[in-house]
Amino acid sequence: MNDSKLIWITGLSGSGKTTIGKEVYKNLKEKYLNTVFLDGDSFREILGNDLGHTPKDRLENAKRIHRMCKFLISQNINVVCATMSLFKEIHQLNREAMKNYYEILIECDMDELVRRNQKGLYSKALNGEDVNVTGVNATYDKPKFCDLTIDNSKQNNLEEKVQKILDLI
Ligand SMILES: Nc1ncnc2c1ncn2[C@@H]1O[C@H](COP(=O)(O)OP(=O)(O)OP(=O)(O)O)[C@@H](O)[C@H]1O
Ligand SMILES: [Mg+2]
Repeated sequence: MNDSKLIWITGLSGSGKTTIGKEVYKNLKEKYLNTVFLDGDSFREILGNDLGHTPKDRLENAKRIHRMCKFLISQNINVVCATMSLFKEIHQLNREAMKNYYEILIECDMDELVRRNQKGLYSKALNGEDVNVTGVNATYDKPKFCDLTIDNSKQNNLEEKVQKILDLI
């Protein structure tokens, strides 16, 4: 029987998806060798960075990630996926296609995101530069039916936050 899980970790840029996702992956991998970590940024790179960050390209990237997760799950592989991909149709596709799908939203106050200024994105958007930054000048769908929400406005208690996810799955 295929019981593999998709742990979909989402949130705005700088919220902590990669940091939390990596730790969840490390923990799972110790128990289940058939586990991979798929990070949105590395995934873009693997495919040759052919997409940009316009809404259209972001949606296309999210569809690719969804399809890749579905493929891996069909091969009995657990996937920890850290990606923004904040589109309700993608959440829905995931939910419909995968039995053991866990959607986790990493939340962070906007003030704190601006302070972190991940990849210099927030200052650029706030200075009116021509960049699409989700949550500032690009809209997004906040997950409606997520299985767990973690407030990561403080860069602390990583272990505790990871444990919450491990308890859920
Ligand atoms: N709980 C935490 N404890 C310590 N540091 C944290 C924690 N959460 C996030 N950080 C730090 O905050 C920053 C942003 O986190 P991270 O890179 O994981 O965000 P992200 O959601 O993956 O962003 P992006 O969408 O741009 O890839 C990093 O410097 C990371 O080390
Ligand atoms: Mg990241």
